Amino acid sequence: MKGLTALRGERRADPTRAPALELREVTKTYDGAHTVLDRVSLEVRRGSFLAIMGPSGSGKSTLLHCASGMDDPTSGEVRVGGRRLSGLNETKRTLLRRKHIGFVFQSYNLMPSLTVEENLTLPLRLSGATADGGWLGHLVERVGLAGLLDRRPAELSGGQQQRAAIARSLAARPDVLFADEPTGALDLDTAADVLDLLRELADEWEQTVVMVTHDPAAAARAHAACVVADGRIDAYLDHPTADDLAHRLTALGRR
Ligand SMILES: Nc1ncnc2c1ncn2[C@@H]1O[C@H](COP(=O)(O)OP(=O)(O)OP(=O)(O)O)[C@@H](O)[C@H]1O
Ligand SMILES: [Mg+2]
Repeated sequence: MKGLTALRGERRADPTRAPALELREVTKTYDGAHTVLDRVSLEVRRGSFLAIMGPSGSGKSTLLHCASGMDDPTSGEVRVGGRRLSGLNETKRTLLRRKHIGFVFQSYNLMPSLTVEENLTLPLRLSGATADGGWLGHLVERVGLAGLLDRRPAELSGGQQQRAAIARSLAARPDVLFADEPTGALDLDTAADVLDLLRELADEWEQTVVMVTHDPAAAARAHAACVVADGRIDAYLDHPTADDLAHRLTALGRR
């Protein structure tokens, strides 16, 4: 891949094998009164793909933002790969986030004036890290972007843009890839491709993935799902089926 240095080869060393993500009693309140997350505890092991579901306004995005260091909980603790992320000042949190966390949005958030390749390497350049050309080459192949590196985002389909966003979020080999409604803007077939990709990243590359979705069929592609209601985890399901999840969400709507 042009413009990138040669493969440096080392995999992330982690002698402790701590869970990829740990939340302990995470609470988020606004204006000192409005509790949006209420003592949420969660552990996600390395290589696991977790879906987060729940009614609109239940706190899913807030949970993702607190877990990924985009926001700081009011109380409780967040650890990523064993490193404490909560309670740090904004600068330290940003540095940790750049190195250890990937985030994918429904709206891709690619830089329109940059090529795909420049978009992929931008976070690395921002954090002053050396691009691992071998890794990025694998990534580009895996997400099916080889041959499209010179294009600008507007010259890609929605599915290709989301694949580029996923590749960008994995460029620094993060401990956890967070995704908030990554398939929300895609048609069914393209969404299925992106979900297959996320599942394979977990199964084959041991990439931990935490994804918020409204779609029970999308959540059923994960290894596990938790259902959030009123800022708490209402249910946790291993090997969820779309029917199971749909029933739980309907039951919540009736409460
Ligand atoms: N910055 C903020 N200030 C005050 N309240 C907020 C703020 N951000 C979110 N909230 C409130 O927190 C609650 C949860 O919001 P959140 O965005 O986490 O929900 P969600 O489950 O992601 O919903 P959706 O499915 O619609 O995306 C909502 O009641 C929302 O109004
Ligand atoms: Mg949301």
